[in-house]
Amino acid sequence: MTRILRINRDRLWASLTELKQIGAYDDEATGLRGVRRLALTDADAEARRRCVGWMLEAGLEVRIDRIGNVYGTRPGRDRSLPCVLMGSHIDTVATGGAFDGTLGVLGGIEVMRTLNDAGAETLRDIEVGFFTEEEGVRFGTDMLGSAVTAGRIPLDHALKLTDQDGKTVLDELVRIAFDGDAHERRPIPHAYIECHIEQGPILAGAGVDIGIVEGVQSISWQRLIIRGEAAHAGTTPIASRHDAGLVAASVVVMARQMCDSGEFGQLRATVGNFDLGVGQTNVVPHQATLTIDLRSPADDLMTAAEQHLAAYVDELAARHGVDVTWERMAKTAVVLFDPSIQDLLAATAEDLGLPSVRVMSGAGHDAQEIAAICPAAMVFVAGENGGVSHTPREYSSPEACGNGVDVLANAILRLADQA
Ligand code: GLV
Ligand code: MN
Ligand code: MN
Repeated sequence: MTRILRINRDRLWASLTELKQIGAYDDEATGLRGVRRLALTDADAEARRRCVGWMLEAGLEVRIDRIGNVYGTRPGRDRSLPCVLMGSHIDTVATGGAFDGTLGVLGGIEVMRTLNDAGAETLRDIEVGFFTEEEGVRFGTDMLGSAVTAGRIPLDHALKLTDQDGKTVLDELVRIAFDGDAHERRPIPHAYIECHIEQGPILAGAGVDIGIVEGVQSISWQRLIIRGEAAHAGTTPIASRHDAGLVAASVVVMARQMCDSGEFGQLRATVGNFDLGVGQTNVVPHQATLTIDLRSPADDLMTAAEQHLAAYVDELAARHGVDVTWERMAKTAVVLFDPSIQDLLAATAEDLGLPSVRVMSGAGHDAQEIAAICPAAMVFVAGENGGVSHTPREYSSPEACGNGVDVLANAILRLADQA
């Protein structure tokens, strides 16, 4: 008979409620209280310290690595065996909610507390971790800490990345005292499971709390810097302008047209950052900077979309006499999760009496990086309000969160007793 654990839902909810106070801000657009906890800021540092405190209270051995990832370990009977790892992130976007990433980390800590309450011994060590700069909002590259751990991004490169004010990742790690000394290429785990809110409408639409995640789609982030020429708005003939703003706006419209055309499958394109510099009413803009976020569940269609956009921008640049520079911020291919871990999650959900569906993830996650070093998969938790995320409207109920973390706890327990 398989042993079934139930986490303490009130304690999980209390931790989520406590952590969302750190970095809380009043969001004017929604009238709600949101969370702004960009990576390696003072708010992130405070949240990190709170999580480390919770890990220590749960009796975990805490270590910090050279990219600032933090791990808490609950020893197993045979410490020579690879551990099972849970994790996610506690940094947020600037308009974030209380659940994105945080559920996986606080859920993992709650699993540890539940194991302690049950006096459970496991064969393997169990670890819970949080990874640095998953969002990529501050230093421009998403899944940074987990990508360094998995060896996709070299540590030196990551430490030199800068924010808008020119501060480096290394400066900020040192400033907040999270520049650890553990090696960033961590010991290879036996398996990794990440519990995360879905951030989309599929689970709620299917009327279930639990998603078993099959994989993550491809993500491409580029920055486009367009340089034209400043000129007088009233006197400069339309035909002789080199209008950087017009070119930038045309790119935004083309990105949307590419999605609507159907030519690029289920492409999603977003220009989330659009900057005309000083921005003067009566001056033709001489510079425009924008970011382009492309997502696709098919690598070949992602390549086709990037090429189409690049050719369009070349043509625009020639037509309007502007210079264009592309900067690659991030790029990840489609990642498919380990089928046996997916099956284990599905079987665990069934044993708990929780219906589940299989889904692809629209968002990026640390699990897609850790999947390069060990078998990995994710359990998704349904969200309300259509599953919106990256907004203070993000919300998953205590029941849904509790159900997701119950699946996490029991799947981790099974993996931790595998010989
Ligand atoms: C992570 O939040 C992403 O941008 O998908
Ligand atoms: Mn996330
Ligand atoms: Mn996010």
